[in-house]
Amino acid sequence: MQLPMSLRTGRLTLRQLTAADLPVLVREIGRWEVAQWLIHVPHPYSMADAEGWLAITCARRGTGTLLHLVAVPDGGAEMIGAIGLDMAAGGEGEAELGYWLSPASWGQGLGTEMAQAMVACGFRDVGLSAIEAAVDPMNHASNNVLKKAGFRIVRVDPLHPRGLRGGPAPANIHRITRTAFEANHDHA
Ligand SMILES: CC(C)(COP(=O)(O)OP(=O)(O)OC[C@H]1O[C@@H](n2cnc3c(N)ncnc32)[C@H](O)[C@@H]1OP(=O)(O)O)[C@@H](O)C(=O)NCCC(=O)NCCS
Repeated sequence: MQLPMSLRTGRLTLRQLTAADLPVLVREIGRWEVAQWLIHVPHPYSMADAEGWLAITCARRGTGTLLHLVAVPDGGAEMIGAIGLDMAAGGEGEAELGYWLSPASWGQGLGTEMAQAMVACGFRDVGLSAIEAAVDPMNHASNNVLKKAGFRIVRVDPLHPRGLRGGPAPANIHRITRTAFEANHDHA
């Protein structure tokens, strides 16, 4: 499967992670306000973690199992966040969506913007049939991002294995299907 190298949103370029991004990645994803909600991400976050993640994103892009892109704002030089579709985490033809933004960029609609772009890419470019995301019920911003991107909560896992900071915890399971996406978009 050929995954896109970059995407454009209204105010962002979403592009591949590079070695030059790693100091910013370490600084921003290492902030507790961000990391507390990111179950797959170590905390504290080291340069070795970042180097390992860069290698994983390259290798898994090659196998078509992970589309991971970093967000760079128009007129900015540094990445301000990242978003990914993990095709190994769902069923056949499905993927799990994950994302984060630096706190300095919160509250401007950018999370919604990049989630909407990635969902459209997942259905139009990657050919997925459904996308899911697991979100802590207390993470109001993320739950709202997904709602605005067309997801619906299909169930609440009472003891989701990827609970907050790794331990079992409840999670809202959000889902959007290709059918629902196409019903709300001009896909001609
Ligand atoms: C989740 C995250 C990416 C949202 O980014 P964002 O750009 O601030 O989100 P948006 O500005 O698009 O906000 C979307 C909606 O969420 C709601 N929202 C935003 N911030 C909120 C907050 N602090 N509390 C409650 N609701 C909030 C609003 O309803 C908003 O819509 P509105 O502006 O039309 O009212 C960001 O908070 C983040 O990086 N958090 C840490 C990492 C994380 O939680 N990742 C997701 C793990 S599942």
